[in-house]
Formats: sequence, structure tokens, C-alpha cells
Amino acid sequence: MKLYHAPASPFVRKVMVLLNEAKAADRVTLVPASGSPLDPGTMPVVRNPLGKIPALERADGPTLYDSRVITRYLDDLLQAHLYPAAPRLWDTLTIEATGDGIAEAAVLMRYEMHVRPEASRSPAWADAQWQKIARALAALEERWISHLSGPLDMGQVAVACALGYLDFRHADRDWRSANPGLAAWYAAIDARQSMRATAPDA
Ligand code: BEZ
Repeated sequence: MKLYHAPASPFVRKVMVLLNEAKAADRVTLVPASGSPLDPGTMPVVRNPLGKIPALERADGPTLYDSRVITRYLDDLLQAHLYPAAPRLWDTLTIEATGDGIAEAAVLMRYEMHVRPEASRSPAWADAQWQKIARALAALEERWISHLSGPLDMGQVAVACALGYLDFRHADRDWRSANPGLAAWYAAIDARQSMRATAPDA
């Protein structure tokens, strides 16, 4: 299998963490891909018409894209058991969507302030993205620490990858101050081998 990959992408990182947890990183060949909303660059537009990564090219079927599709597929293929049975599954998927939403808003902020031509950048628009992130972090802090502290699942992996991206690209926003429970949880999960091996600056 070929995984279209960029080390900075929190969505690619989710897939890489799953592969590391399943001790199956050698099952994929990494294909470097880069681009931006203004230029698809080397993104796999033929494999994924949306021109986004991660995309997983398989020998025996169409290329899969969207990190949640890929992680569900690999979880099944590798029997990684990172999606529990229902009813816990519904919480896991909601937390995964929350982590992915944080990552998506954080990537959009990055594009707005570093990729969009300087004259048309909107700090107010970027701040509105941050408000979305702040609300999601507060929800995790207030509602989900107990689930996050349970057996490892893809909800936890998605949140950990999103928080890693906040540290990587938005450290000045200091997400920890308002979310001490989440900060303590993150310190523990970030020490796992799968997180260390996939850190964006590793
Ligand atoms: C980044 O450099 O921040 C980035 C790269 C690829 C995907 C998302 C973000």
C-alpha cells in the first residue's frame, strides 16, 4: 500500500499513529506530497480528486481518502482494535470528530496567516477559527477526560494529533492554560512510542 504523506499533517499523523500502534508501519510505502489551497503541487489529485492527504493507494481496490475512512479500513485490516464496539463507539467517533475539527480549524488558520497573500489575510477570520478550537478544547476538558483516560482508541489518537499540531504551529496560543486536565492527559499520551515516532518535527 502507498500512503500519500506529509509529516506536518495532523490527519496523516493519525494514520501513522495507528500503523505504529499496530506494529505495521512497514505495510505502507510513504509517498511525499505537498501543496496548498492555492496550488495542488504534488498532491495526489488523480488518486483523490479533492487533492488532499492522507490518501491510501491499495493494490486491490480504489484509493481510500479522508483520514477517518483510512483509519477505519486499517483498523479492520490490521485488527488494531482502536474502534471499540457500540455503544462506546459513538463516544469514540464523536471525540475523533472533535479532534479532527480542531486540527482542521488549526490548519485553516495556518493557511490564512502564512499561505494567503499577505494583503488579503484576515486576522479576525483566523481568530474566529481559534474560537472554534477553544470551544472544542473546553468541551474535551469538561466532558471527555474520563473517556480520554480509558483504553486507547482513535478518538484519543485524533485529539492527541490535533494538540500536537497546536504545539507545532500555534504554540503562542497557549492552549494548556485554560485546559489543565487535557494538558496532563496529553503529556502522558504524547510519551507513547507511536506519538514520538510520528512527531511533525521528529
Ligand atoms: C503544515 O505545514 O502546517 C501542514 C502541512 C500539510 C498538511 C497540513 C498542514
